[in-house]
Amino acid sequence: MNSKITQTLFVLSSILVFFSCNIADKSNHLSKQETVFDTKVDSLMELMTLEEKIGQTTMYSGSGAVTGPTVNADFRKFIKASKVGAMLNVYSAKGTRELQKLAVEETRLGIPLLFGYDVIHGFKTIFPINLGLSASWDLEDIQKSSRIAAEEASAVGIHWTFAPMVDIARDPRWGRISEGAGEDVYLASKIAKAYVHGFQGDDLSKYNTILACAKHFVGYGAAQAGRDYHTVNMSEDELRNVYLPPFKASVDAGVETFMTAFNEVNGVPASGNSFLYRDILRDEWNFKGLVVSDYTAIFEMVQHGFAKDNKDAARIAMNAGIDMDMMGSVNRLYLEELVVENKVDIAHINDACRRILLAKYKLGLFDDPYKYANEAREKEVIYKPEFLGAARHSAAISSVLLKNENNALPLTSAKTIALIGPLVKDKENILGNWGAAGDRSGKAISVYQGIQEYLQDTRILYAKGCEIEGDDESKFKDAINIAKKADMVVLVLGEDYDMSGEAASRTNIKLPGKQTKLIRQIRKAVPNKKIVLVLMNGRPLDLSEEDILADAILEAWFPGTMGGHGVADVLFGKYNPSGKLTVTFPRNVGQIPIYYNMKNTGRPIPKNNPKEDYKSNYIDVANTSLYPFGHGLSYTNFEYSDFKLSAATIGFSDMITASATITNTGDYDGHEIVQLYVHDKVGSITRPVKELKGFEKIFLKKGESKIVSFKIEVEDLKFYNSEMVFGVEPGVFDIAIKGTSDFEFEHTFTLTESNK
Ligand code: NOJ
Repeated sequence: MNSKITQTLFVLSSILVFFSCNIADKSNHLSKQETVFDTKVDSLMELMTLEEKIGQTTMYSGSGAVTGPTVNADFRKFIKASKVGAMLNVYSAKGTRELQKLAVEETRLGIPLLFGYDVIHGFKTIFPINLGLSASWDLEDIQKSSRIAAEEASAVGIHWTFAPMVDIARDPRWGRISEGAGEDVYLASKIAKAYVHGFQGDDLSKYNTILACAKHFVGYGAAQAGRDYHTVNMSEDELRNVYLPPFKASVDAGVETFMTAFNEVNGVPASGNSFLYRDILRDEWNFKGLVVSDYTAIFEMVQHGFAKDNKDAARIAMNAGIDMDMMGSVNRLYLEELVVENKVDIAHINDACRRILLAKYKLGLFDDPYKYANEAREKEVIYKPEFLGAARHSAAISSVLLKNENNALPLTSAKTIALIGPLVKDKENILGNWGAAGDRSGKAISVYQGIQEYLQDTRILYAKGCEIEGDDESKFKDAINIAKKADMVVLVLGEDYDMSGEAASRTNIKLPGKQTKLIRQIRKAVPNKKIVLVLMNGRPLDLSEEDILADAILEAWFPGTMGGHGVADVLFGKYNPSGKLTVTFPRNVGQIPIYYNMKNTGRPIPKNNPKEDYKSNYIDVANTSLYPFGHGLSYTNFEYSDFKLSAATIGFSDMITASATITNTGDYDGHEIVQLYVHDKVGSITRPVKELKGFEKIFLKKGESKIVSFKIEVEDLKFYNSEMVFGVEPGVFDIAIKGTSDFEFEHTFTLTESNK
């Protein structure tokens, strides 16, 4: 072992013994299980100067995959000077090892670095984008995807992913809707847990488990007008009932870290918001992990008009409880001065440093700082066949069949098939945004390749038709020609991968460029041929016209490295589609925000006369969505019958069981996602018209039936009222078990204060 480390460890262990009974400034944030590490951290901190502690709160970016303005800093020099605690955007075993060596062997105390990276939906083996994964409603599969991502990322020395993004998003204009689990609180909370468990595993000290990060705390998805980074203003009950629960679920799942949000919340930027971090996250939720700022969000408080200058921003953030400064832009420059000036309590810096060191202990970095960066393991695990197989499966189960008329799908025999569209042969966009270290230059399986695998006796004709964006129609002719020659047409259209994700908001959510015109012209040229539309996109699109033009529409999202195979598996019926939307598809952009669990109004539209005057409607378009939350077709049919409740009335300490029989009445075996909805009819504050409270993914062979039951406890009916009290109110509740959110309730139960 390097003599410097040996020496340091010796000093550490003697001090550890000495100080373990005499720990000054001991944090009361740590739980019993962590006391061993806590003691070690305290001993180490006794050796550290204030400058070194501030160094731990500083993260620098390497040069890979930068996602914003670069803060120029010679990070090697700073690492050697003990002024860096963590790095982001370094993602090869060689790169992380080299920098770790500097930290461990060339600094006074040899404290290892933490390496963080955006491992969002895969590291090398890229899974469907998160909005797509959520459409599988398959928690096991989602957990598996993040486990695989952690396996690959950890092999190159990454200890920490900036995922999952658990922001509720109800505005398709917002590009980052692609990174989350959609619009629903219940489902997003379950999915948050699955990701956290997948990334972190059961023991963080293992070489293949990494820290997860619940981001962006909070309200980021509610940016006004869907414009990224924009203002967020909402009532506290909305914050607590809608936007906070997935974060709370992450804490309950043991998430180790949190990231701030760029936006302000009710006038206070999230990155300097002590109500969010101190009152809610630490005091109410007892979160003990570390909080990192989002990128340059700390000094952005100056632009927000909340901090006078960068130094003031550093003060506000540290006092609000932000432990780490992601881009190293302020902490390193101002914290020491702020302590001297008594503007930042040194205890805050100690707490922050302690949480960061604690994370490093938990990961086992003090035992072996290099255990993650392993070139041999990197070679062994990256793109392992079983990982690729899992990605293919995820792509299939994430696809949502939005429409299927005239049995256009599954594809059966056709002598000639025309494959048209800018995304047919694509191997770049198919990974979607946040492709991590995924290969965009040829590794991915295109839809063309996927389809080819299935077709032996069929002739494939191909034409690009047009680009994703732009006005060029010169390739229309070829596309129309092959459509005329073929028996049927499969179009693969969509967005560019960077039209969603960060800083990619759109005001027009139709297919970009000339793609809609292309399908319109093809329909005109071949009015009687089947047209199947496969979509790749990162947000709900306005598909009103495509819905009329195509016989079938398969929403494949950006399906990842094995996307082409996954999509083909669905197109040819090897996997009978089971995905259901986790976000509403509007009829047009003007309906936004539109989500299934909106509130009613005093003037809801009458069912028999949706156009009635002086009602809450539009004069130019229906109130309903084009495709609702929970919608997704199968090649078979599922019938719901025999709804039963275990009681008509329950008391506060009872539970009720709701059940229904689901029968596969069609011609294919298949999976169905059975959904439980409730509506609290009268509340001390108004309640959403529907709320998802349970779901189960079942498999039914054709002709088979199954009874699916859900237990509902009073806990499930609680919400924050206007006094911010989390409780349940007696009254009547609508209840239903369905395969979509688009239905009318027919059954109720009553909750009474006393037990029956
Ligand atoms: C900014 C993004 O908002 C955040 O989600 C991401 O983790 C960081 N950049 C680091 O890339």
